[in-house]
Amino acid sequence: MQKDIIHLRAPRGWINDPNGFIYYKGTYHLFYQNFPYAPRWATMHWGHAVSEDLVHWEHQDIALFPTKYEDQNGCFSGSAIEHDGVMNIFYTGVHYDKINPEDTHMCLDDEFQSAQLRITSEDGIHFDNFRDKQVIIPAIEDAEIGDRTHTRDPKVWRGSDAWYLVLGSSTADRKGELLFYKSMDLEKWEFVNAASTEEPLGWMWECPDYFETEGGEVLLVSPMGIGAEGTGEKNHTVCMKVRFDEQNCSMEFAKEYRYMDYGFDLYAPQSTTDADGKRVMVAWLRMPVPFEEGRIGMYCLPRLVEVKNDHIYFKPHPNVEQLYSRRITDIMQADPAGYRVSLDLNDGERINVGGYQIWREGNRILTDRTDVFPACENRENFCMQSKTPELKDGFHLDVYVNRNVIEVFVNHGEYVISHAVYGCKWQIDAAEEKQMELYTLA
Ligand code: FRU
Repeated sequence: MQKDIIHLRAPRGWINDPNGFIYYKGTYHLFYQNFPYAPRWATMHWGHAVSEDLVHWEHQDIALFPTKYEDQNGCFSGSAIEHDGVMNIFYTGVHYDKINPEDTHMCLDDEFQSAQLRITSEDGIHFDNFRDKQVIIPAIEDAEIGDRTHTRDPKVWRGSDAWYLVLGSSTADRKGELLFYKSMDLEKWEFVNAASTEEPLGWMWECPDYFETEGGEVLLVSPMGIGAEGTGEKNHTVCMKVRFDEQNCSMEFAKEYRYMDYGFDLYAPQSTTDADGKRVMVAWLRMPVPFEEGRIGMYCLPRLVEVKNDHIYFKPHPNVEQLYSRRITDIMQADPAGYRVSLDLNDGERINVGGYQIWREGNRILTDRTDVFPACENRENFCMQSKTPELKDGFHLDVYVNRNVIEVFVNHGEYVISHAVYGCKWQIDAAEEKQMELYTLA
């Protein structure tokens, strides 16, 4: 099977959201939204890769593909859990109301239905797409509960007394919301409650991911239609502290949310617990054009999610740090797969990483990728300049550089700016006296 290192990419075609991320029987499984036949979004399949350490991946056969009425037009995002040694996958199946004669992969007039399905596997590798799919939550008919069309992306977890499932949805007056379900046996699911922020946030919530960490409970969610001026795309992932009450499946949301990543390319993250029980997530890097013939999109470095003093940190997973640990003195010694440069920035200082600019202005870090971004049709969907909110913990940067993605971790994950780049040169320009440490793959 084909191998891949760090930034996971589909072997062929298109990739979007990470799905079914799980540490199962001693191996990491990462599934993903995939269209293998062309580098564009179309009828969704679940691609699949496995890893022992989150950084070296081995591609597997496609795990899920349409076979039923309910998922005829795509196997959308979902999650995985283990129960009694069996991998259980929950995902959204979509069925278009009308066929688009010009392009059967695209829906006409946004008219389709979404149902939630389950499929199991004894080994995490083999899935019986023809016989083993089961509809657990049919398309919603009651508009008071949720939207027939825009309800998707089940994330399942084990609570203290039952299994819980959250879906992203949209209210009758077009506000993003969550729907909570409960089950004792993973087969019969009962709708319990809906929840949303007091202030509406976008018109639909995609890919909700709720989990507990030592420092508190966290919700990662990707509302559609919140894009602020200058952030390109209108759909962005936010994170916030929340409180979930199992009794009635109610959720309290912190007053404030912030973005998961200030580069605004990353979207639809999914998390799981790693071999040490820590919370690790990956997210999809939206790319404007293929990075190589026939292949578009990739994942960010796996990141630990931690809450300290009420702040949500996203920092490189320890296995990533370990991988980028061979000290070098010259960038020419760097592995073709990438390097890390670590430094502290004084006010006004700037470095240029192969055409990608990073500088400090007062209490913020800013970046500009204008010179390493293609002149493409959809350029306006991407933001060229990014900046962090005001920093509190210093001005330390760990910049992970790869041919097609630059990830700037500020103060060990206080904030992160991640950007897709093209034609980035293998060089760093900075003031001569600037102290920097360079590391490459061990
Ligand atoms: C997010 C998303 C999900 C959906 C999937 C379809 O990027 O729109 O809500 O399940 O992608 O590919």
